[in-house]
Amino acid sequence: MGNQNLNVFFEKLNRLAGDKSLIKLVLSNQRDRTSDLKSIIITLLEIKKGTRLNFVYRYKTRDITKNFSVDEAIVLIRSSLADDFFNADLFSSAETFRVLITDQGKVKIRSNQPQLKPVDSFGHDRLKERVIPFENNIYLRELGVLNSNFEVRHEMNDKYLQINRYIELLSPFIRDLNLPAGFHVADMGSGKGYLTFALYDYLVKSNAAEPVMTGVETRPELVKLCNEIAGKAAFKGLKFIKGNIRDAILDKVDILIALHACDTATDDAIYRGITSGASLIVCAPCCHKQVRKDFKVAGAFSSITKHGILEERQAEIVTDGIRALIMESQGYKTQVFEFISSEHTAKNLMIVGRKTTITPAAKKKSLESIRVLKEMFGVREHYLEGLMRDGCRVTGDA
Ligand SMILES: C[S@@+](CC[C@H](N)C(=O)[O-])C[C@H]1O[C@@H](n2cnc3c(N)ncnc32)[C@H](O)[C@@H]1O
Repeated sequence: MGNQNLNVFFEKLNRLAGDKSLIKLVLSNQRDRTSDLKSIIITLLEIKKGTRLNFVYRYKTRDITKNFSVDEAIVLIRSSLADDFFNADLFSSAETFRVLITDQGKVKIRSNQPQLKPVDSFGHDRLKERVIPFENNIYLRELGVLNSNFEVRHEMNDKYLQINRYIELLSPFIRDLNLPAGFHVADMGSGKGYLTFALYDYLVKSNAAEPVMTGVETRPELVKLCNEIAGKAAFKGLKFIKGNIRDAILDKVDILIALHACDTATDDAIYRGITSGASLIVCAPCCHKQVRKDFKVAGAFSSITKHGILEERQAEIVTDGIRALIMESQGYKTQVFEFISSEHTAKNLMIVGRKTTITPAAKKKSLESIRVLKEMFGVREHYLEGLMRDGCRVTGDA
């Protein structure tokens, strides 16, 4: 899009980014009203490699964040104004500069009084406000999120933000719980422990009573690494054990976490949480193979599920929907929501269950819904149902 007014805008943007006086740029007013992308919010970010423009792509149901050099950003903004948005609002301490593009491609510009106050600082200072601080954070350094100077490594910025997002999401659920002294948290399939360490850290800092936390993981090298890091961080209540979610020997669990444990391992974890009477169960399911094997739909719906990808997604929805219903039938109030942006992982659904009491009528209703759903989708049995009926033997063998 070549236009004198646009050139004025881009010159201004380039100058404001260069002298770090840009407060914010917002691209809005969609060209296509049906598009999922609602707006883009652009701010300055200072990292070791220099100035970057941080783009937050605001979609209908999620945000995606990306950083670009000023030159790259200008190319992207130019094409966004040509293809996606009619408006650009540029906020600086000197003015609010507005670009309005008409349907016919005419570009109008307007300069108004400044509307936003300048930010005192940006870049890493902004990260400092995060719920998991990085200053002197030993476990984040040992996990490679920070460099030896305790700065967030550029390539780990997304991971650091993801860790913080996870704690921000969980903290309201945890705050509501009436936890006993020395309460026990089990993280099933803890992997490299990024989220395990962060949750332990958060719990220690936000609770008078220090928690006991166990990460359960089949891979011995990860168990060893995480125990070493827990030692270096002096996290006395945190340990990792080599074991299988299904049968690891654990004390009573008050909070059960299972993030991205494979297929039915998520069900094993939910089962362990329910049977332990956990006050809170949090899981982010991974792959969903079990229900799909049975999946058979009839009638008009089969004209949708004949497409493999749509059948796969439907099977995921049925699997997780039945998981939530089984938790409800066991007295858990459930919430299902998106956990992190799908830029990080497509497996971004979180199921949270808080233990309450359930009336016999409500239990009957949940069980009836499960029966109807299974019939509708040709599912013989959900793996978690089988566990609830037959149980699983806890032996402690990995
Ligand atoms: C995708 S990683 C997720 C790690 C971590 N929860 C996270 O979200 O960052 C899944 C981890 O679970 C472990 N895992 C899978 N099935 C398991 C099981 N049945 N018992 C214990 N660990 C398991 C895997 O070895 C792997 O490290």
